[in-house]
Amino acid sequence: MAATANPYSSNAPMIAASILSANFSRLGAEIKEVLDHGCDFLHLDIMDGHFVPNISFGPHVTEGTREATGGKVYLDAHLMVSDPLKYAPPLVKAGAHNISFHVEAVDDPVAAAREIRKLGCHVGITLRPMTMVETIFPVLDEVDVLLVMSVKPGFSGQKFMAEELSKVRELKKRLRPNQRIEIDGGINHETAKSARQAGVDWFVVASAIFDAHDRPAAIASIREEIM
Ligand code: DX5
Ligand code: ZN
Repeated sequence: MAATANPYSSNAPMIAASILSANFSRLGAEIKEVLDHGCDFLHLDIMDGHFVPNISFGPHVTEGTREATGGKVYLDAHLMVSDPLKYAPPLVKAGAHNISFHVEAVDDPVAAAREIRKLGCHVGITLRPMTMVETIFPVLDEVDVLLVMSVKPGFSGQKFMAEELSKVRELKKRLRPNQRIEIDGGINHETAKSARQAGVDWFVVASAIFDAHDRPAAIASIREEIM
């Protein structure tokens, strides 16, 4: 495994495999395969069937993922839930190293970020494609990662919304050296290239890896475009 336990230890561009598209009947093996072939860390999409029209998984699968990685791989949780402050503590307890929450889900994003920070994890802010980038400006000083959604949250396998890259360019101007910009949705070797040019550090990928006939080749081709 070449995967990292702390993606902030380097400025290098990184690939985060989203297990949403993995085969859950063999999750441990799926995780091992993508990490062995070059993914840097794992992205866990937590959905409650309320904030988004889909239900995925929660702390139990997060704990299984930690076990499958021996606790040595960074687990990046993306909370697509209406009450992120309720689910953050059990997710951190289960092994999540980062909690990214949606700005649309909370009344006071600064207070929410501070509360999550107290759990001892990294904190991320994210927003739906329809949400203006300015809505997250007040919370930028409180977070480690800025997660730009390039599809409507809820499902993997959707088409990349290239217009969302304008948010990346806007956020890049405001980024501190210890912060990262992450993009999520519709990333493959073609879209990763334009996202990298816009300033993305971390690339979340589900279907372009897990649905590929040749997963190692799919990971390598994305890697090539972001270096
Ligand atoms: C969508 C999730 C994404 C999703 C990405 O709501 O946040 O992380 O798994 O899937 P792909 O890479 O297939 O667009
Ligand atoms: Zn996600």
